[in-house]
Amino acid sequence: MNLFHISAECYPVAKVGGLADVVGALPKYQNELGHDAKVVVPGYDNKFTNENVFDTVHQGKLRLGQFIFDYTVLREQTNKLGFELYLIAIPDLFNRPNVYSYDDDTERFTAFQIAFLNWLTETQQRPDVLHCHDHHTGLIPFMVANCYNYQQLQGTPTVLTIHNGQYQGWFGFDKLHYVPDFDRSRTGFLEWNGIINPLASAIKCAWKITTVSPSYLDEISENANGLENLLRYERPKSIGILNGIDTIVWNPKTDPMLDHHYDLKNFKAGKAKSKKFLCEQFDLNPDKPLFTFIGRLVGEKGADLLPQICSVALNYNPGEINILILGSGDTGVENALNGLKHFYPGYYNCYIGYNEKLAHIFYAGADFLLMPSRVEPCGLNQMYALRYGTVPIVRRTGGLKDTVLDIGDGGFGICHDQTSVHDVNYSITRGIDLFNDKKHFDEVRQTAMKIDHSWDKAAEHYIQLYQSLTY
Ligand code: GLC
Repeated sequence: MNLFHISAECYPVAKVGGLADVVGALPKYQNELGHDAKVVVPGYDNKFTNENVFDTVHQGKLRLGQFIFDYTVLREQTNKLGFELYLIAIPDLFNRPNVYSYDDDTERFTAFQIAFLNWLTETQQRPDVLHCHDHHTGLIPFMVANCYNYQQLQGTPTVLTIHNGQYQGWFGFDKLHYVPDFDRSRTGFLEWNGIINPLASAIKCAWKITTVSPSYLDEISENANGLENLLRYERPKSIGILNGIDTIVWNPKTDPMLDHHYDLKNFKAGKAKSKKFLCEQFDLNPDKPLFTFIGRLVGEKGADLLPQICSVALNYNPGEINILILGSGDTGVENALNGLKHFYPGYYNCYIGYNEKLAHIFYAGADFLLMPSRVEPCGLNQMYALRYGTVPIVRRTGGLKDTVLDIGDGGFGICHDQTSVHDVNYSITRGIDLFNDKKHFDEVRQTAMKIDHSWDKAAEHYIQLYQSLTY
């Protein structure tokens, strides 16, 4: 099958969160199954764009209301990512280092989607499926079905994957004219609660909806930032498919970001070396259990509670545990986490920022990974942790519920029900007990490392879904 994944992020081209990891891996596995999966992302002014070589495959102009922009479609020359990668360069809008958080994000991502469809139309391409990811590409299903300019693409199946239903890309009707001409009686397909809502539009117009875990599909019927009723209504065309992880990138035996490699046979020694490195770097005690948090410091991930979780845990267990945090996000949380360093020297530290290499070393060197998420559509970090023999401590929600079984049930993780300081601290106490029961701890880590979360199954599942739309 010939298909396009269209997304704002793709690892290693541009990454903010897990969306990038999925879009950087799924197409590779689909191609291994004999399909032709391509990826299209905006051309940002970042390291990847500047350090790689591209061919210009198409140039054109796009209209966004009263504005006209030049766009260029660039193709990465080597296919080294395991798929054909296309960047859509719209210099006026994307010649900037970051993916999101500019005042004109509506203009940027609407123009990106228009440029993509213009390109397909102008070069007479007719893919089998268009697979859109999150709200940044949410207008595509509507535009394919309704815009006069894209009549040639009408009837092309569209699939929307919801990686995070909290963000929906709303904008006002004053920008309705950004959308290329269509029969105005169809306007309702763009709208939800009185404004244009790209995610809602995609939920209405895409042929199939997927969420990144089965439990998340159940949860968003109850809690989806205002889209609950719509999601309930569209449930018959929705399905939850658990993400995989890229087991080539994430392999403690070969990971180029690690100095000390290991596998199931020598994991104790391998992990201990990475732990020693981290403890030296961050002035921690290598003999005590090391609890970490890796990720965006935002409320969804429960990060606002981290400062309190850390101080309670470190006060209750003085000299008995280490906590090490890696992430960036909410400035208040960043400051509070930095502030804690002075109170618990030798047992607490944090690295505020995004650092992919350090994240890999954290997974290898840590004993436990904290994920007190309020919302976790899938969560990849717990799967990385498992593969690296690090025990996840998770709140039972979304994909965490689908992937982590508690040690009390013969599993390989520690689970709690609430995103609360109390619940997380109770789990930390259970973690300390596990750490001190060396035999059990080793068994749990071995079980964790054996779990197969590779993409093979999910990649096949998506293909079956596309096939149900095309044959
Ligand atoms: C988003 C979700 C996360 C999921 C990822 C990839 O970042 O918050 O739970 O794992 O997308 O689908």
